[in-house]
Amino acid sequence: MNQITSPAPLSPDALPPLGPTQFLRRRDPVVAIVGATGAVGAELIACLERRGFAHSGLRLLASARSAGKTVPAAGQAVEVQELTEAAFEGVDLALFSAGAARSRQFAPAAVRAGAIVVDNSSAFRMDPGVPLVVPEINAAALALHSGIIANPNCAAIIAGLAMYPLHRADPITRAVVTTYQAASGGGAAMMEELLAGTRAYLAGEAFTPRVLSVDYAFNLFSHNTAVDPETLYNDEETKLAQETRKIFGAPELPIAATCIRVPVLRAHSIALNLSFARPLSPEAARALLNAAPGVRLVDDAAANHFPTPREASGRDEVLVGRIRTDRSDPSGRSLAMFVAGDQLLKGAALNTVQIAEALLK
Ligand SMILES: NC(=O)c1ccc[n+]([C@@H]2O[C@H](COP(=O)([O-])OP(=O)(O)OC[C@H]3O[C@@H](n4cnc5c(N)ncnc54)[C@H](OP(=O)(O)O)[C@@H]3O)[C@@H](O)[C@H]2O)c1
Repeated sequence: MNQITSPAPLSPDALPPLGPTQFLRRRDPVVAIVGATGAVGAELIACLERRGFAHSGLRLLASARSAGKTVPAAGQAVEVQELTEAAFEGVDLALFSAGAARSRQFAPAAVRAGAIVVDNSSAFRMDPGVPLVVPEINAAALALHSGIIANPNCAAIIAGLAMYPLHRADPITRAVVTTYQAASGGGAAMMEELLAGTRAYLAGEAFTPRVLSVDYAFNLFSHNTAVDPETLYNDEETKLAQETRKIFGAPELPIAATCIRVPVLRAHSIALNLSFARPLSPEAARALLNAAPGVRLVDDAAANHFPTPREASGRDEVLVGRIRTDRSDPSGRSLAMFVAGDQLLKGAALNTVQIAEALLK
C-alpha cells in the first residue's frame, strides 16, 4: 500500500503568525452583523452565542426595510439598524452576509473604521490580496489579510473539507464534482418559496414562483446562477472550481463541476469523483478522513447508511461516506464518495466564526 500520512488536526500551532495589526484590536470586540435578518445572519448570531464568542456588543444591520425590527440575540431583543457607513463607528469585527453589492459598497467603510471584515459574499473571494479561508485547510493564509477576509462559496467549503485531507496525502489530479444544493443556499426567500410551492402542489393549487424562474416543488434544476455563454458553466460551478484551487493553493487543479438545486430545505450534498497521483484505497481514504478535523465518516454499507442532508442539518461537521474505488479507472487511482454538509453552518456562519476566533490575540 502507498504511504499515507494523516493531516494533523487544526491546533493553535497551525494558526498563522499574524502581525500585531492583523489580530482583532480587543479580545471582546464590538461585532457588527451585516445581513442580520437573513438566513446566514440568523445562524451567525446563533453561532457566536453557541461557541461563547466574547463580545462587548452586537450591532445588527440590514436594509432600511428591517430598521427598527427586533431580532433575538444574546438573550435580548436587539433592534436592527439600517446599514450605513456610519454604522461601523466603534465596530471591531464586521461579519458581512448581505450580498456582494453591499459588501463592495460597505466593507471598505468598515475597514476604514478600524474593523476587520469577514465577508460571506463573492465580492472579494478571488481578489489576490484577500485571503479565502477554511481554517481546517489554510488557516495560514490569514496572515496575508489587510482588513478583509473572504469566506468561500458554501459548496467549495463542504467539498473542500472532504477533498483536502486526501489531497494532502496523495495529490488530486482531477476532480469531478456534482452538487445537490438545498434551498437554504439561496437565502430565506428561496426556502420560503420551496415551502409555499410544496404546500400549493400538495393542495393541488396553482403557484407562481417569485424568487426562481422554475417550479421548485418536486423538481430539480440547474443552479439558478448565470451561465457563461462561452464555457457553458454557471457561476456557481465556476466559483466552486476557482475557489477550491485558491484555498488548496493548487492553481492548476482540474475540476469540473455540475451544480444542481434540489428540493431540500437545508444542507448541500455533493458527489465527488477524485483521481489521485498514486493509487488510493477506500480504506486509506477512510482512515485519512476519520482523522480529519471538521469531518465525520458516515459510511456503513451493510446498513446502507450514508450522508444525507437531513442528517447533516444543524451539524458542524461535514458528513462523508459511500467511499469506493471508481471502477471506471482501472489504475486504482480514482475514488467516488458522497458528502453532505450544512451550508448555513460550515458553509457560511460557522466558518466565519471560526475565522473570527483565529483573529483573537
Ligand atoms: N445561504 C447560504 O447558505 C450562504 C452561504 C454562503 C454565503 N452566502 C452569502 O451570504 C449572503 C447572504 O445570504 P443569505 O442566504 O443570508 O440571504 P438572505 O436570507 O436573503 O438575507 C439577505 C440579508 O441581506 C440584507 N440585505 C439585502 N439587501 C440589503 C441592502 N440593500 N442593505 C442592507 N442589507 C440588505 C437583508 O436584509 P433585509 O431583511 O432587510 O432585506 C438580509 O438580512 C449572500 O451574499 C450569500 O451569497 C450565503
